[in-house]
Amino acid sequence: MSEKTPKLRAALDGVPTYKPGKPAAAGGPVAYKLSSNENPYPPLPGVLETAVAAAGAFNRYPDMACTGLMAELSERFGVPAEHLATGTGSVGVAQQLIQATAGPGDEVIYAWRSFEAYPIITQVSGATSVQVPLDDNEVHDLDAMLAAVTERTRLIFVCNPNNPTGTVVRRAELERFLDAVPSDVLIVLDEAYREFIRDADVPDGIELYRDRPNVCVLRTFSKAYGLAGLRVGFAVAHEPVAAALRKTAVPFGVSQLAQDAAVASLRSEDALLERVDALVAERTRVAKTLTDQGWTVPESQANFVWLRLGERTVDFARACEQAGAVVRPFPGEGVRVSIGETAGNDIFLQTAEAFRKEL
Ligand SMILES: Cc1ncc(COP(=O)(O)O)c(C=O)c1O
Repeated sequence: MSEKTPKLRAALDGVPTYKPGKPAAAGGPVAYKLSSNENPYPPLPGVLETAVAAAGAFNRYPDMACTGLMAELSERFGVPAEHLATGTGSVGVAQQLIQATAGPGDEVIYAWRSFEAYPIITQVSGATSVQVPLDDNEVHDLDAMLAAVTERTRLIFVCNPNNPTGTVVRRAELERFLDAVPSDVLIVLDEAYREFIRDADVPDGIELYRDRPNVCVLRTFSKAYGLAGLRVGFAVAHEPVAAALRKTAVPFGVSQLAQDAAVASLRSEDALLERVDALVAERTRVAKTLTDQGWTVPESQANFVWLRLGERTVDFARACEQAGAVVRPFPGEGVRVSIGETAGNDIFLQTAEAFRKEL
């Protein structure tokens, strides 16, 4: 037998692995998972029933064109169906976007730290990441991002609100940026946490995309709509981009369960958005308590908060876990803590209070 192993693309060397948020240990002392920015509410009964009904036909392939979901999204957001593309979560759509725009020799710009999938999907495509540090307030530095644009730039991610800091870019600065970027560079507004925004000065990307052919908006059913386990997200973009997304999609990637549950969720939006309101109220409580304890917390418009703990990050995460809440450490930088069930949030807050006293 030959000693040789299959030849793999050199671009894969050193690709960082995606670290999923740690699960809450089954049967152990840990009870609350605050590590993946999930929705802590269980599925709405009507949505669950719809998904269960769809499960009865999973011997069949799903509707590849997601016809029903496209029609529902088109009406809900007031966009032509040709401007929509779906994928296996918005991370799947983000990967399709890179495949459609960038390869070896091309550059993809994004803020750092931001969503950890960006470096992975960029490197897998063979393109080069250009990471632009967040400013001192943990916010996208749009001027620096603009200055980073070169002839090789193909795509720019603007994560709004930003994961993991929860910070936002506001209307005037974002519009100025969009208008300054060359029109042949695609700007992707990743709005995975859009529904949690309460700052009226943060623009809705779907309004910004309408008269800007190089702007694409990413949304997901994973967060506010509570369908993280079903994997469905979508993009809103003008036709050449949306059409390219359909070409780069994995055929039949979005299951019928996911399609039907997404439609049912859109039809149950009022009930889901009430839950989002409750999570936002909880976010306000968590942020205020932390500030009262003496922490500096960047204002979050998402379903998580960020504590820049530097060298103490891993110790803090361990203390939270011992107390019963799993958070998401970024060693040497900080922890991201999802807003979860009140009792879980309280465990985090009590740990933060005790930790603060030690600092
Ligand atoms: C900013 C951002 N974009 C996209 C995603 C992907 O979510 P999904 O693939 O579940 O839609 C996430 C998930 O954490 C995220 O934080």
